[in-house]
Amino acid sequence: MSHRVKSRSVVVRTALAVITLALTSMFAWSQKAAEDLPAGAMQAKATTSCLECHEARIILQQRLSKAAWTKEVDKMMKWGAVVDAGDRDALIDYLSANFSSDQPPYEPPRTSTGKASVKNIEKKTAK
Ligand code: HEC
Repeated sequence: MSHRVKSRSVVVRTALAVITLALTSMFAWSQKAAEDLPAGAMQAKATTSCLECHEARIILQQRLSKAAWTKEVDKMMKWGAVVDAGDRDALIDYLSANFSSDQPPYEPPRTSTGKASVKNIEKKTAK
């Protein structure tokens, strides 16, 4: 009887440890993956309107003209993005200012292992 109780508590403790580990690594992963839209007057509104369906990265990667951003914002609004009519122009200006073709290319955040392996490849190929 007491043996049964003991082994059950070991199972419970092991299960709790596994769950804790899983949650901790999921949290660490989500912290690493999350990127913010750049600071600016429209940052908060853009975050609300534009990060509802996808991550910031899909926006951060773009280098578009103002005309292309206008099309992009209108397309997203057609697809369901909620943007106040009065905010549309300011949002387009914010996106064009931060993500135009004269901005440096997007630098994806990498894990340290990723960085190390890229360096190794560079070392190997630099001759
Ligand atoms: C209703 C959901 C939704 C909202 C809100 C939304 N998008 Fe999108 N967006 C999508 C989908 C779906 C895609 C294409 C699929 C994908 O690649 O994930 C996409 C793709 C994109 C792309 C990649 C290029 C393209 O056209 O496929 C950009 C840039 C973009 N969105 C910008 C924005 C901006 C800026 C906002 C805020 C105004 C926004 N999105 C809000 C659904 C949304």
